[in-house]
Amino acid sequence: MPHALLIDDDPTVLAAFAELIAHEGFETSTAGTLADARALISKENVIIDVILCDLFLPDGNGMDLLKEVQRSTQVILITGHASIDTAVEALRMGVSDYLTKPIDIARLKAVLANILRTQHLHAEIGNLRGELRKLGVFGPLIGASPAMQTVYDMISRVAPTDATVLLTGESGTGKELVAQALHDLSGRSQAPFLPLNCGAVSPSLIETELFGHERGSFTGADRLHKGYFERASGGTLFLDEITEMPFELQVKLLRVLETGVIMRIGGEKPVPVDVRVIAATNRRPEEAVAEGKLREDLLYRLRVFPLQLPPLRERGEDIERLAVHFLQLLNQEHGTKKSFTRATMQRFRAHNWPGNVRELKNLVHRAFILSDEEIEPTCLPSQVDVKASEEPSQMRLYFTVGIPLAEADRRLILATLDEYGGDKRKAAAVLGISLKTLYNRLNEYGFEEKSPCPV
Ligand SMILES: Nc1ncnc2c1ncn2[C@@H]1O[C@H](COP(=O)(O)OP(=O)(O)OP(=O)(O)O)[C@@H](O)[C@H]1O
Ligand SMILES: [Mg+2]
Repeated sequence: MPHALLIDDDPTVLAAFAELIAHEGFETSTAGTLADARALISKENVIIDVILCDLFLPDGNGMDLLKEVQRSTQVILITGHASIDTAVEALRMGVSDYLTKPIDIARLKAVLANILRTQHLHAEIGNLRGELRKLGVFGPLIGASPAMQTVYDMISRVAPTDATVLLTGESGTGKELVAQALHDLSGRSQAPFLPLNCGAVSPSLIETELFGHERGSFTGADRLHKGYFERASGGTLFLDEITEMPFELQVKLLRVLETGVIMRIGGEKPVPVDVRVIAATNRRPEEAVAEGKLREDLLYRLRVFPLQLPPLRERGEDIERLAVHFLQLLNQEHGTKKSFTRATMQRFRAHNWPGNVRELKNLVHRAFILSDEEIEPTCLPSQVDVKASEEPSQMRLYFTVGIPLAEADRRLILATLDEYGGDKRKAAAVLGISLKTLYNRLNEYGFEEKSPCPV
């Protein structure tokens, strides 16, 4: 049986809660102060699975406990002062969820049920973090750069909770993929994940799409229609391009997020819904607010947990990793063994990737079609196949006197090739050797160099 520790300085609150929590299938302990709580936590043989803790206690702040408990212990903050700032801060620091006083019993039960569901998820996420991460794989996401490691940390932390997440980042950075990962790693993974692109549905239809309508609510409504909120019941609703949602509808969405109930169009009675909302935009949210595209109050409500995806150009070695990953998928699909030449990789690293991972994926696909065995820079579109600068090189090489001539040769040849963006003809001309000699040298160095592929 999971063990819950309840901390509150009001004995009547403690007694009432303890009974309720025990009823939900938890072994319960109680404490009136942080000192009492610490004594319980530090007891041997006691593993606390969840702590429900009042924010303000006689001897300190409930958040202080966060740093002291084991990673596997979930902390639910109870606050009488429902401020967005506290909630955001608490989630950032690692609390699993928060409840506001007076406590809504239904919500408390939902939170407790979620804890039971997520106990095994934590173990699973732990595995994902450890081994696969080192290899640069996290669920469906590829990348080992520090920027992506931070993203994986945030996903691990927020996925099992019911917190609303706002995903931001340039187009093609993987927002939809992250939304899917958040769903897959939550206790909701067996229920539907429904994406709705608010920019793709006509403004007049989006309300019906979201909330559904009753039979006969307007001409043509000949039967009851369940909207996304009802169809995603128990699961996750991904509201993509949230800034494209009509402004008036944003008020209604905010109300649903606050109350957990919807009204079908033409309906009389509220319908309770249990849906976790993840929203995304590739615009800067503050700018969208300033331009009147996004309501500020909705932004605050959505941004309980903000998660910004880094552009590809800031992910260093991930560019190569992703390119190889996409190529492997194509090789598997077509039974081929195509590979990138060093020069192609060099172009990839030098490119700015305004379209991010999507651009890279499409580009690899295009190059795959155009190439034979080796994917040369000539298979890349012109904006990526940039010729190296005509300016004289600023690059310097330093050798320690005493290294073999062959080694100095090797370094100079490779550096020159890099400097000219992989253009062998140009590099050979600058080095004063024939193209054939350059190819021979590259082969000697272990690069399987062949003539450029015809396009
Ligand atoms: N880290 C990643 N690893 C593997 N594939 C990725 C990664 N990031 C994105 N992709 C792939 O790149 C493509 C674009 O990703 P996605 O649709 O999630 O981007 P987005 O941020 O939602 O873009 P937009 O703002 O244009 O909707 C998809 O095919 C996705 O599978
Ligand atoms: Mg998207």
